[in-house]
Amino acid sequence: MSLYAIGDLHLHFQSQLKAPGQLHDRVWKNHEEKFGKICEKLITPEDTLVLVGDHSWGKNRAECEKDLAYIEALPGRKVLTRGNHDMFWDANKTERLNKEFAGRLTFLQNNYVPYGDIALVGTKGYTFEGPFWIDGRGRVVDWDEAAFEHAKKLVERELDRLRTSFEAARKDGFREYIMFLHYPPTNILEEESGFTRMAEEYGVKRVIYAHCHGQTRFHDSLMGEVRGVTYDLVSGDFRKWVPLKVME
Ligand SMILES: [Fe+2]
Ligand SMILES: [Fe+2]
Repeated sequence: MSLYAIGDLHLHFQSQLKAPGQLHDRVWKNHEEKFGKICEKLITPEDTLVLVGDHSWGKNRAECEKDLAYIEALPGRKVLTRGNHDMFWDANKTERLNKEFAGRLTFLQNNYVPYGDIALVGTKGYTFEGPFWIDGRGRVVDWDEAAFEHAKKLVERELDRLRTSFEAARKDGFREYIMFLHYPPTNILEEESGFTRMAEEYGVKRVIYAHCHGQTRFHDSLMGEVRGVTYDLVSGDFRKWVPLKVME
């Protein structure tokens, strides 16, 4: 039994929408076929695969049906967190999705998934990525206050959802957690955030996140061990479509 994670499949079996990178960067060419083959070799029916958001380019549920069917057909137990592009997933209707896909897919938000003695917790997260301006030394020299206030609200909402996830697990007796976010846990200055603080508060050893695409963004946030927590980026193009083995 192993636990794997990867994010940002950005499937588009129905949708015509593609990110600019998907048109130009080689890594995206037939990526769904590459990823499917890698999973067939790597993942057994006893394993768990956490897909850390941005599953589909579809603008609505109908446009995501084939993408969700592709995910369902992957080997192992599939757990999904929300990404910023997942328009099929209304944040207030996660329970409904879980009922509909019971035994096929699990949607992780305001709840948790047991993995042996460990609870898998998670939420989409949110990172304020600007608009701010930095000088050549990485110092913030200007700031959009209105955008910042709005971002603060989004962060608070996601922190509430993450705490609900932790507390649901804790209530059921879990004391060990692995935390999944779609967005990176920090801004590009890698300052501590509500997400890094919550990971430390609950004694989390591993935080897995995605969302960062392309060489210029891969190092936008924490990687490796920081204050006792190990951070891993698992966006599909960063992993070249090989899921990260999080643990045996
Ligand atoms: Fe993405
Ligand atoms: Fe994203």
